[in-house]
Amino acid sequence: MCGIIGYTGKKQASEIMLDALELLEYRGYDSAGIALLDEKEGGTKVAKCAGRVKDLRSLCTQKDVSGTCGIGHTRWATHGGVCDSNAHPHRFGKVTVIHNGIIENYRQLIEKYELDGKLRSQTDSEVAAAVLSRFYQGDPYAAIRKTVLKLKGTFAFAVLFEDIPGKIFAVRNVSPIVAASTEDGAILSSDVAAIVPFTTQYFVVPELHVVCLSRDGIEMYDLSGDRAGIEWMTVDWDISRSDKGGYPFYMEKEIMEQPRVIEETVLPRVKDGKPDFSAEGIGDDMLTQCRRICVIACGTAMHAGLVGKSLIQAMIGIHVDVVMASEFMYNDPVVDGETLVIAISQSGETIDTLEALKFARKCGSPSISIVNVKGASIARASEYVIYTHAGPEIAVASTKAYTTQLAVLYLLTARMAIARGLWDEDKTKRYMAELLRIPRVMEEVLARKEEIHHIADTMLNARDVFMIGRGLDYSILLEGSLKLKEVSYIHSEAYASGELKHGTIALITSETPVIAVVTQEKLKSKELSNIKEVQSRGAKVILLIKGGEVLEQEKIWSRIFRLPVMEDEFMVMPASIVLQLIAYFVSLDKGLDVDKPRNLAKVVTVE
Ligand code: G6P
Repeated sequence: MCGIIGYTGKKQASEIMLDALELLEYRGYDSAGIALLDEKEGGTKVAKCAGRVKDLRSLCTQKDVSGTCGIGHTRWATHGGVCDSNAHPHRFGKVTVIHNGIIENYRQLIEKYELDGKLRSQTDSEVAAAVLSRFYQGDPYAAIRKTVLKLKGTFAFAVLFEDIPGKIFAVRNVSPIVAASTEDGAILSSDVAAIVPFTTQYFVVPELHVVCLSRDGIEMYDLSGDRAGIEWMTVDWDISRSDKGGYPFYMEKEIMEQPRVIEETVLPRVKDGKPDFSAEGIGDDMLTQCRRICVIACGTAMHAGLVGKSLIQAMIGIHVDVVMASEFMYNDPVVDGETLVIAISQSGETIDTLEALKFARKCGSPSISIVNVKGASIARASEYVIYTHAGPEIAVASTKAYTTQLAVLYLLTARMAIARGLWDEDKTKRYMAELLRIPRVMEEVLARKEEIHHIADTMLNARDVFMIGRGLDYSILLEGSLKLKEVSYIHSEAYASGELKHGTIALITSETPVIAVVTQEKLKSKELSNIKEVQSRGAKVILLIKGGEVLEQEKIWSRIFRLPVMEDEFMVMPASIVLQLIAYFVSLDKGLDVDKPRNLAKVVTVE
């Protein structure tokens, strides 16, 4: 949470930072600010305000924000409400700081360093700035080292010292920072997305290392003061993929990109007609020796895990748990050397997932992560990583990251089945052919976007929406319902349709649209009976059903969308796209900020 940017070079820093902050807004968007070193007059200039980056941009037109070295921040409030004074950067004495994370011992620090009455904000971040300022006596490295040793919690700091022109210092613990050289200087950020417009070469600042950026390059030292080497990485994201590509919102653009990114995720991992993870170093031993699997993830990524569970249990016959990463440690998890842990995360930075993964590894579990951002913390904390090739996902509501995670789970399931000798050539061929067909089937659904738009219209004025299905259909509805809630603010609940009659059916009235998904042959007759139950209570049913079959029952829907036909286990893919588009169009037609739903942040680095 909280986006961080820093630039030093020959160009005006404010423009570069404002553009970058717009890209980073998915990390939080309740306030924004920048600070620039004033090389002529000395001192630091700060412009900050509650609101969006566009508000900061207009504030900057009224202020002197000239300068070629600066730091910028977009905030998702943790300590202290949303107001101008709590916005970052925070200046204290000679230091100016931006921060992502939470300083847990900030109260003790206030007492210890007698800061009561001296702070201008209610943030834990300003406390850190004050402590740093106290320790700063001309040696930035020594001051940062001393400060870091006093802090408890997670942090990524970028710091300007007003008497050190042209230099940005940074240090982190858990919360991410990446840095890169540009043609005229250097840049740092919380996310690779902000680096991509400048260079493809970057590095992840290791934890508890102090990095210094200047026009002459980048230096890094560990906490004992020894110079540290830099491990450069290459990002393969195309810069043009960071813009809206002519769509009104990133969410639509990202939904439309799915056929391509699924292909990019799957094709490099198919050799001789079979899934192949040798490039990732994942040997078959790992897939054959585990007795159970535990998936840890949050939000949409966890919903991808639920689909993975259905696939693996059905095809491999081993038990799979899907655990919300935020709950993992508090439920006495039982994981061991025979439990393969799969951590799924778009950003690779979700702290709950990261901590759960670290815990599982301590218990001796082998681990694979499925991550979208190269070099992210979760990727580095797991034994093996499979990258989804979704490219930058900017809309807060995840779409293409989800379906690429599913694509990886389809591949992994197949590799596991083959490695365990469960499938013959014929089964493998049929499954892989279907997997490779996904992009074309998705295109078919996307071409019917306007049909889905009309369906979405029926939900515009709804207060509550229910979504019902069984088995795999229920798993995808959990995600469909989350999507609708996130971007449209309509209360929506996904319910296993068989469970509905155990109480919740009391909430169904003629005012409640019910989306029913029916794609699994073995569950169809039961699902259709459940649909009749809600229809009898007056609900208007929007039916998403596999194929063009004629239903025997009298008309049980008010709207119907016939999904292109795939094998049952793959129906998740076309159905998900319909649900994503429904959520998108409802939000769009309600005139909401689709990409930045209220209160949310895309990258959640606080527990
Ligand atoms: C946040 C986002 C969700 C996302 C979840 C997990 O809550 O708003 O869209 O699914 O974090 O994020 P991850 O990056 O770990 O997939």
